[in-house]
Amino acid sequence: MRYFVLGLTLVATLVVSVLGFRGDISRKPPLEIFPDMDRQPKLRPQEPNALLPNGRSSQLPVEGSIARGTPFASTPKNTGRVSGVTNFVELLPVKVTPQLLARGRDRYAISCLPCHGAQGDGNGITKKIGAMGVVANLHDARIVKLPDGELFHVISDGRNLMGGYRSNIAIDDRWAIVAYLRALQRSRLGFEDELSAAERAQLK
Ligand code: HEC
Repeated sequence: MRYFVLGLTLVATLVVSVLGFRGDISRKPPLEIFPDMDRQPKLRPQEPNALLPNGRSSQLPVEGSIARGTPFASTPKNTGRVSGVTNFVELLPVKVTPQLLARGRDRYAISCLPCHGAQGDGNGITKKIGAMGVVANLHDARIVKLPDGELFHVISDGRNLMGGYRSNIAIDDRWAIVAYLRALQRSRLGFEDELSAAERAQLK
């Protein structure tokens, strides 16, 4: 009986303390068992703030920032295509410099060499270990004749069995690779006017 009365009192106190004051207005801060980061040191927008040089908590975006959702400018450099149409640009829309070629060589070694090989003939390590069956030989006459813009497009979005590298290689680096690829191809090409008169005479 004693325990029953004690239990009843306890339950009654619990019920009243939990449910009895619901809806009451109190000016005291609530009891917080788990504060769940309700209060944290932070800067609110438009507040003054002595920490930053111009004294504001809201800073301007860094110069050159591009807002999410900003339309992607349809320029030859961004797409590899002539503006307004779907034709590929014939020549690189960037200036070819020794630095660009060096960068292209560096990037080619990282992103293309494993499959296409250091010479671009399609004999990379992935073929040797059997991970890729047929890898294109980049000295193939058909590929040599592709416009620069189409090479940029193949790097960006891939073709047939090759995946695209749009998200792995920045636009400038893709053009650098195209420039280097042209240098690779040129290393196996000769022009008629590079021959001596005697050699030229033998040409059929
Ligand atoms: C994972 C292996 C792999 C990597 C990495 C790779 N490629 Fe390829 N690439 C292929 C294969 C396979 C093909 C042949 C695709 C087909 O025709 O099915 C190909 C085809 C091509 C072609 C010919 C497209 C055509 O019109 O037939 C070009 C150009 C090319 N790759 C350039 C590159 C460049 C530049 C890179 C580096 C950014 C690169 N590839 C990285 C596997 C790769």
